[in-house]
Amino acid sequence: MKEFNPIEYKKMVKSYQENDDPTGWFDSIYTDAQGDYKAVFWADLEANEYLIDWLKEHPNTSKNKKAIVVGCGVGDDAQALSEFGYKVTAFDISPTAIKLCKDRYPTTKVNFVVADLFNYPKEWFENFDLVYECNTIQVLPGKYRIKAREAISSLIAKNGHVLVSCRSRNKGEQEDDIPLPLDKEEINKFVEDDKLIQMSFLAYDDNQTPRVPHFFATYKKERE
Ligand SMILES: C[S@@+](CC[C@H](N)C(=O)[O-])C[C@H]1O[C@@H](n2cnc3c(N)ncnc32)[C@H](O)[C@@H]1O
Repeated sequence: MKEFNPIEYKKMVKSYQENDDPTGWFDSIYTDAQGDYKAVFWADLEANEYLIDWLKEHPNTSKNKKAIVVGCGVGDDAQALSEFGYKVTAFDISPTAIKLCKDRYPTTKVNFVVADLFNYPKEWFENFDLVYECNTIQVLPGKYRIKAREAISSLIAKNGHVLVSCRSRNKGEQEDDIPLPLDKEEINKFVEDDKLIQMSFLAYDDNQTPRVPHFFATYKKERE
């Protein structure tokens, strides 16, 4: 298995981004893991605790609610949503990530599929009661971050919720970082540009050493 080297990783990502191929490298992270989902360096191997808290606080009483997980990685958040009663579609641009999800959860009810957020199946448009985004925008550069946010917001049905989990930074800091965390101004575009209603907003530091600042924000699309 290939050893993870953060300096080489950042150089590799930068070269794809400079060649205007911002998604060309994702599959390599999963192929380098050689079939072992535990070797995917960004995978927590458990569902996001803030997602779980939100699901507990907003019990899903309907059997028909549909959720979609953007850039689902090795699949834990998607599996959790399924266990909370949602009909879940989870997608990733990396075919190897999707294979890892299916190997990891062989009896899952989640529909794990390969798809590109920038060109998703047209029937997904405004089709989901819950959209979950965790750490996808932050691994994209420049205009692709805006396209990604707009695409995420376009998946939500009327009255549905969008949940966003990401690393965070103060405006003007860490501007060359990979991943590039979101600042408050950027995440606020879900409200200002996509016209979602902010329902909650949490800024917190995780438990890593050194601690990494994060946002967990929830939005709702109003009935029209
Ligand atoms: C940093 S990882 C986060 C994975 C997972 N959400 C998590 O929190 O562990 C970002 C994921 O987004 C996927 N991704 C990036 N661009 C994408 C796109 N345009 N469409 C679908 N998936 C994408 C990558 O393949 C990768 O699995």
